[in-house]
Amino acid sequence: MNILLVGSGGREHALAWKIAQSPLVTRLVCAPGNAGIGEVAELAPVGAGDIGGLVRLAKEMDAGLVVIGPEQPLADGLADRLAEDGIAAFGPSRAAAQLEASKAFTKEFCVRHAIPTARHATVTDIEAAKAFLDTMQPPFVLKADGLAAGKGVVIAPDRATADAEAAEMLSGRFGDASRTLVIEENLTGVEASVFALCDGIHAVPLVAAQDHKRVGEGDTGPNTGGMGAFSPTPEVDAAMVQRVMEEIIQPTVRGMAEEGHPFRGVLYAGLMIGSAGPKLIEYNCRFGDPECQILMMRLKSDIVPAMMACAEGTLGALEPLEWDPSPAVIVVMAAEGYPGEIRRGTVIRGLEDASDMEGVEIFHAGTAHDDAGEVIAAGGRVLGVTARGDTLRHAVERAYAAVDQIDWPEGFCRRDIAWRVLGR
Ligand code: AMP
Ligand code: GLY
Repeated sequence: MNILLVGSGGREHALAWKIAQSPLVTRLVCAPGNAGIGEVAELAPVGAGDIGGLVRLAKEMDAGLVVIGPEQPLADGLADRLAEDGIAAFGPSRAAAQLEASKAFTKEFCVRHAIPTARHATVTDIEAAKAFLDTMQPPFVLKADGLAAGKGVVIAPDRATADAEAAEMLSGRFGDASRTLVIEENLTGVEASVFALCDGIHAVPLVAAQDHKRVGEGDTGPNTGGMGAFSPTPEVDAAMVQRVMEEIIQPTVRGMAEEGHPFRGVLYAGLMIGSAGPKLIEYNCRFGDPECQILMMRLKSDIVPAMMACAEGTLGALEPLEWDPSPAVIVVMAAEGYPGEIRRGTVIRGLEDASDMEGVEIFHAGTAHDDAGEVIAAGGRVLGVTARGDTLRHAVERAYAAVDQIDWPEGFCRRDIAWRVLGR
């Protein structure tokens, strides 16, 4: 079978690496890909935003499956357009992708289906925002309704900040994405990600992971796309995953089907696990990045039949997925300045020595080749140094040993990935 993979991040490099290992694959093309993905797949110069171009490419290459990595093409209806041409897609329809693309939709959906989440209100004007804030205690959580590249959440420590932020967001700080605002209760507890494969009716849990969203050590500084992650985590054991499936994921899959938008693909639940149990912070309609990289490291089964089963509605008949019990960790190396202004084009050396180390894989995110064939930084998050080990500590030691082989003075990483669990 020929497979088209859409995207260019570390998540897509890990997916390409895993898909390329499948004996079912004849040809794997990635659009647009990056320097690392080019080592395991053919690259096609079609951007993830070019829906028409991607559909044409899928037809030209006779794709039996299109794997859609990022959220934007899903929210733009790529899966729907492929379905019109009878091409199977791993990823939800535009209507089902609302679970990520509209926080207001998801909050109302949770209310309709009794899915535990933070108490909230959806507002479009400042008077309504203030009226709801009057009923809340600080800190106040304000969220742009639409996609804002991971930057649309503000946690305001006091009421004056909340009022000012709400006014700015409503007047378009994130464009149309923030003209509707969700204001919600601040949740406390342990944050974790649970992933499930879905075929519209059935849902199969994957393993859980914990991300590190803040740029600075000790979880300080601004939010990022994610600076590192590990799996498994003692804070989300198999019993907790089962509870999340029963209380959150399964009611969601049922509810989406009842409402006429069956969800197919991977559903990523961002959770806060507190004294009252797990509550949904947000849904994403795709794999997490960098969580995907460690999930792919730990998955022993072929991923292609699982993705096809999601597309074809046959997940109920899929052989159980097998996981490597060894822990895996990913340390993200980013360009200096990330998540703010970054410098591009700096040269990265030592990648081969690092990836030759036992148990280590280097997944590329924002990389490219320069004219001399050197790997250069071409984005904010640039590399995902991923390692497996006999224990979590062993995996962490291997990952940082590999980081130390990489010669890239203009890059940085957090040195404390998994610290909260290891420090106990
Ligand atoms: P999101 O973009 O929805 O993932 O939010 C970004 C981050 O903000 C989350 O990973 C949480 O750490 C935090 N956050 C979002 N909503 C809440 C909430 N209701 N209570 C506490 N923290 C939250
Ligand atoms: N790691 C967070 C995300 O993919 O949204």
